[in-house]
Amino acid sequence: MPPAQKSHMLAGLACATALALAAANPVGAQPGGDAAPDGRAVFEASCAACHGADGRGNPQPTVGFDVPLPDLTDCDFTSREPKADWARVAAHGGPVRGFSPIMPAFGDALSAEETRLALEHVYGFCEEPERYPRGEFNLPRPMWTAKAYIEDEVVVTVDSATDGSLDTSAALTYEQRFGTRNNWEIKIPWKTMEGTDGPVTGIGDVALAAKRVLVKNLDSGSIVSIVGEIILPVGNPERGLGKGYTVAEPFLAWGQILPADFFLHTQAGAEIPLVADHNQELLWRAALGRSFTVGDYGRVYSPMVGVHGTYELEDDATPSWAVAPQLHVTLNQRQHIMLVAGAKIPVTDFDPAGVEGRLTLLWDWYDGGFLDGW
Ligand code: HEC
Repeated sequence: MPPAQKSHMLAGLACATALALAAANPVGAQPGGDAAPDGRAVFEASCAACHGADGRGNPQPTVGFDVPLPDLTDCDFTSREPKADWARVAAHGGPVRGFSPIMPAFGDALSAEETRLALEHVYGFCEEPERYPRGEFNLPRPMWTAKAYIEDEVVVTVDSATDGSLDTSAALTYEQRFGTRNNWEIKIPWKTMEGTDGPVTGIGDVALAAKRVLVKNLDSGSIVSIVGEIILPVGNPERGLGKGYTVAEPFLAWGQILPADFFLHTQAGAEIPLVADHNQELLWRAALGRSFTVGDYGRVYSPMVGVHGTYELEDDATPSWAVAPQLHVTLNQRQHIMLVAGAKIPVTDFDPAGVEGRLTLLWDWYDGGFLDGW
């Protein structure tokens, strides 16, 4: 028998045994007569054959399949996925989130309460859960408003003007978490525009940023972070590709989980040119959205509307406003590849030529390769 087939057969046996054990030992009716279900007992009867009693995953020769088992004691891992998502995986099996079918569906063998208790036992493997922001705060990402949640993400953005000109700008952003509540990021833009002697193309001003979560409280649904960004004059100012001076952009970002799958992102800060003859600017942005899930665990559509304000610190200045309708969609079953499409429409001094279209592709690389989980 080819090894792959053998490992699938063994895995099938392991699943069948786990499900049979789960069905045969309804945990509410343990010997001793105590009717209260106990998360440890459910976990040990239904999950430990594969995940190990200590949550680290039994070795490959014991389980008989080679799909690596996650380390459930790793807080960095167990803090990231919303609890509702893991409850779906336990009830309906690995494939509902693009994982291996070796992770069985316990929907008929365990009650929703038993699954919840088993997962609470899983969360208990992490010794310092309060140090990590929970994955519930990983709300759909708006395109112009910053998120308070920290990410391991690759973001590709394409901006295009709607005035019929050639002007487009693409940017690649890489974000990486470090410690328990920080991430750093780098954004590299690439611009194409109409110059006086034909099209001009080249690298724009490169931004470096660091983010730290200051406060997070799942009971109130709030997360607040501080971000320091510095935009370096890498683009050639003579060719119109960059500003020619460094800009610092400190801001606060606040994310709020709202009832009925609504959510709000807000951001407030300043743009501070590090040269004498340019004005500083205050900026504030908000994006309100709601998520709609197709079926129980299908694609998630999150329409959002952004409101942006800027105020240049000079005499007689008045704030400028823009609105930004946008749609965020999860593309694959694992939901770690997403697309956002939208536009930024100036409200102050409205001009159709000032409308900016944007498309963003997001890849949460921590959750798997680009081709995984479709
Ligand atoms: C037959 C073996 C087996 C049993 C029994 C089993 N699992 Fe799993 N589980 C797996 C495998 C294999 C994976 C990894 C799948 C992958 O990465 O594609 C997994 C992954 C998971 C994940 C991680 C999903 C993620 O986001 O990476 C959770 C949560 C989980 N299992 C919970 C449970 C719970 C709770 C039980 C008991 C009610 C259980 N499992 C029983 C094999 C099993």
